[in-house]
Amino acid sequence: MKIVSAIINPLKLDAVRDALAEIGAKGATATEVKGYGHQRGHTEMYRGAVVDVKFNPKVKLEVAIEDALVDPVIEAICKVAKTGHIGAGKIFVTPLERVVRIRTDETGEAAL
Ligand SMILES: Nc1ncnc2c1ncn2[C@@H]1O[C@H](COP(=O)(O)OP(=O)(O)OP(=O)(O)O)[C@@H](O)[C@H]1O
Ligand SMILES: [Mg+2]
Repeated sequence: MKIVSAIINPLKLDAVRDALAEIGAKGATATEVKGYGHQRGHTEMYRGAVVDVKFNPKVKLEVAIEDALVDPVIEAICKVAKTGHIGAGKIFVTPLERVVRIRTDETGEAAL
């Protein structure tokens, strides 16, 4: 299992969520975050305005998935979250050791 963490433009969150549900991701967590990339936070467009701050508003979307879904999830996020501009985001993939569904005590992929 893996966790795919995608830092995306907040305006793309709903569309990314729909795309992930369509390919079989069973859950996701979204968090409002602030970040910067190569441009160090300078002058990105956000909600039609130029934001000139050290950190830009982003959403971090975390999806825990079975290994077979990693490539489809990455492809879907890239396709939907691409803006054509700098600051469209970045995706990180990390190993996931254990998952537990609290209600049933199920573990592993059955708990995703
Ligand atoms: N090396 C990194 N480590 C942690 N978070 C990062 C890193 N690079 C980018 N991020 C996060 O991803 C967000 C979006 O990054 P961004 O898309 O601007 O990356 P970039 O490498 O500058 O690419 P681009 O040139 O397309 O802007 C940042 O605001 C930050 O939250
Ligand atoms: Mg950038």
